[in-house]
Amino acid sequence: MIFFMPPASKLIIVFLIVSLSFFILLHLNAPCKSLSDFIDSYLKLWFWQIWCNSWHYFPSRYLKTQPKLQPSDWFYPMSHMNMTMTTWSAPIVWHNTYNESVLENYYAEHKITVGLIVFAVGRYLDYYLADFLMSADEYFMVGQRVIIYVMLDDFSRMPLKYLSRFRTFKVFEIKREPRWQDISMMRMKIISDHIVDHIQYEVDFLFCMDVDQYFQNNYGLETLGESVAQLHTYWYRKNPISFPYERNQSSEAYIPMGKGDFYYHAAVFGGTPTQVLDITTQCFEGIMKDKKKNIEAVWHDESHLNKYFFLHKPTKLLSPEYCWDFQLKQNSDINVVKIGWHMKSYNFTRQKL
Ligand SMILES: *[C@@H]1O[C@H](CO)[C@@H](O)[C@H](O)[C@H]1NC(C)=O
Ligand SMILES: *[C@@H]1O[C@H](CO)[C@@H](O)[C@H](O)[C@H]1NC(C)=O
Ligand SMILES: *[C@@H]1O[C@H](CO)[C@@H](O)[C@H](O)[C@H]1NC(C)=O
Ligand SMILES: *[C@@H]1O[C@H](CO)[C@@H](O)[C@H](O)[C@H]1NC(C)=O
Repeated sequence: MIFFMPPASKLIIVFLIVSLSFFILLHLNAPCKSLSDFIDSYLKLWFWQIWCNSWHYFPSRYLKTQPKLQPSDWFYPMSHMNMTMTTWSAPIVWHNTYNESVLENYYAEHKITVGLIVFAVGRYLDYYLADFLMSADEYFMVGQRVIIYVMLDDFSRMPLKYLSRFRTFKVFEIKREPRWQDISMMRMKIISDHIVDHIQYEVDFLFCMDVDQYFQNNYGLETLGESVAQLHTYWYRKNPISFPYERNQSSEAYIPMGKGDFYYHAAVFGGTPTQVLDITTQCFEGIMKDKKKNIEAVWHDESHLNKYFFLHKPTKLLSPEYCWDFQLKQNSDINVVKIGWHMKSYNFTRQKL
């Protein structure tokens, strides 16, 4: 009968069939409790997924075959600046050390897609996710193709109104762990799984970030690299002896006293998908080995991340301007803050996650 219908009606029927199958798929994936729950979460989400995915992108394979951008092409630290290069010659990016137009021209010819993974579980979701997404929309990789991967424990609380049509996002539901420490450690496993499943085919570079912070200035191409680590606001000018590394030799995260280069902040790390996969799988292995011995490193996944970067040096470091705590007094070397921490209200967010 469908063959005799006018083309417009055919289209409508096809649309309805597709919608219905989408609904069934979503529903099977994570059943909703009621109809209003469904309308509130899945329908809106589905609509946005379609709307935002209306253009398609393929990660460029160019980067592997074309000449790579060298630090000397775009990285110009001024002579009076210190802490701009590590002993293993990785650039430490501060504001005013890079030439944006060189980077923009290069990536205009070498199109890329950048991924950003963020976890929002329990009260972190209500408290911080909207701000994070809204600010990422405004400042993260402006003009580039971006996919934001949101990992949350409750679809219905996804703050949809902040999502811009020009950014693609993918939302995944994850299991809620009883303790925030476990959430932050399980994060490593979840990231690995998603990179293997799909992210490796979707992006050229990937960042993993904590949700309790917000962008407030352009966070752009200068941050891209094979393996990217973030200098921790509290420790960047301190002596390595004072770093809060894990010091118990039984832990996989152990770093001997006096060793180590920098204290890195787990709130931001990134690189190519293959590299991030290596980071997250190795950290997770360390965490699981410790668990078997009933040890938990002093700063959880961050201790393991520091051990990883101690053994496998990052190829690019970001200055504390890229993740600054405004509760510290403004240091003279902090000029333009790209990401600021939210005031930590742990008493509220960490109880009964
Ligand atoms: C950046 O590089 C371009 C091309 O090399 C040059 O014309 C421009 O003056 C540079 N900008 C800055 C701020 O150094
Ligand atoms: C290291 O951890 C193990 C296992 O938890 C514990 O038995 C040992 O006392 C710790 N060592 C130090 C120096 O804290
Ligand atoms: C590096 O320079 C900053 C100012 O730009 C200064 O505050 C700091 O003390 C210097 N650090 C060292 C180790 O020279
Ligand atoms: C958080 O809780 C601790 C004790 O559990 C208390 O000492 C502290 O004052 C609380 N902080 C705030 C900001 O409420």
